[in-house]
Amino acid sequence: MKNSKAKEIVERWMFPTERSSYMGGIEDRPILAKSQDRTVTDIDGKEYLDFQSGQMSGAICHQHPRIVSVIKKTIKTMLHASNTLLNVPRLKLHQTLGKILPPPLQRSLFLVSGSDSIEGAIDLARKATGGIDVIGLHAGLHGSTSYLTRSLSFNWNRNKHSVVAPATSAILTPYCYRCPLGLEFPSCDIQCLKTSLELADANFTSQPAAFIGEPILSAGGVIVPPEGFYKRLQSACRERGMLLILDEAQTGLGKTGKMFGFEHEEGVSPDIIAISKHFGGGLPISAVCTTSEIAEIAVKNGYFATRSHACDPLLCAAGEESINIILDEDLPARAAQIETRVKESFREMAQEYELIGDIRGRGVLLGIELVTDREKKTPANDALRQIFSYAMDHGLIFQTRGTRGLQNVIRLVPPMTTTDEEIDRALSILNDAFRAVGKSKRQAAAE
Ligand SMILES: Cc1ncc(COP(=O)(O)O)c(C=O)c1O
Repeated sequence: MKNSKAKEIVERWMFPTERSSYMGGIEDRPILAKSQDRTVTDIDGKEYLDFQSGQMSGAICHQHPRIVSVIKKTIKTMLHASNTLLNVPRLKLHQTLGKILPPPLQRSLFLVSGSDSIEGAIDLARKATGGIDVIGLHAGLHGSTSYLTRSLSFNWNRNKHSVVAPATSAILTPYCYRCPLGLEFPSCDIQCLKTSLELADANFTSQPAAFIGEPILSAGGVIVPPEGFYKRLQSACRERGMLLILDEAQTGLGKTGKMFGFEHEEGVSPDIIAISKHFGGGLPISAVCTTSEIAEIAVKNGYFATRSHACDPLLCAAGEESINIILDEDLPARAAQIETRVKESFREMAQEYELIGDIRGRGVLLGIELVTDREKKTPANDALRQIFSYAMDHGLIFQTRGTRGLQNVIRLVPPMTTTDEEIDRALSILNDAFRAVGKSKRQAAAE
């Protein structure tokens, strides 16, 4: 397709994008024609290293030969099936997933999108506890379905969408680099959580049902909660009869260097986890996972969750193959190696470029927060815009993220199969981008 034709379609047939959303400006970006491994190619034949892993759902890689092969095979036998009858790929996926879930999590049900799995998880917690109120972190993101998941995505302005779901409220994100209370970890003793819980208790409109959070807040700017945060939150949930739901959409299935993101903190045992993104190796399938005990109580109280395509053999077969690839290729270990390589390189770059304020994240979910002044931590939104354009022009794609008004975090999500050579190529483009932005700043100062 030619660019002129694409422009015509955009202008005539496509919904305009909301400029301040993360998709804003899509009309001016490359138009993709194909993808392979860690590379996407636009309609002009230009190649880009994909360090956003598609929409994070390509974290194994694009067109993994085993995923392509299982899709081809399943299409020939059974593409779609009723969710009122069991099918073989579905059963095999329940078993394969059950074996990698840390006990006592072992029961799963399948849905389609990540947002579906969050809705399914919240409904499950409500049915299991009899409670209603749900709290989440103020920099969190849990989906884009118009009612429940957008209401719990506090990092997106809730005033931008129509009606907010009742009994959903935010608590403070433990964003240590920019502590909301101006304190320092560990001497703070995680005061943000104590203050938040006091406020949450005052705000509850009913028996509370659950807390929901990401083990690492990805869209909020790759914020890693401090050691001990989730363990304390778990105790607070138990004291109140609430369930701890962890949204593993972006941290699950190997990406943080362990199979699940929550496993980095000892003693954390969530009641429910939600899995999506690269679970289907590029196809949309998600899961809600919980203990037998919680599943049984909820079902007794009338819980069920499904979608017309929730248990399609095609999606389930791809899901099972993606888990097998992650295990066979030991991708969590590879993700941990990538983390070391990228962080070491940024630590070196930080000696040269004042702009680098913080380097954080785990595995292949990494964030570099840019500031114009390390002391005051002034967000470098403009500089990041320039670095983003430079990288895109030179063949590297990533996303810019941050909490609420901030858009000053480079979020790097290379697929877990990325080679050292590809990592070094991406780092070299970023190094040049920092130098170019630094230079243009000096030139601007001289003028
Ligand atoms: C942490 C998290 N949860 C849930 C979702 C929603 O997933 P989906 O877009 O597949 O509905 C997202 C989407 O980016 C996410 O980042």
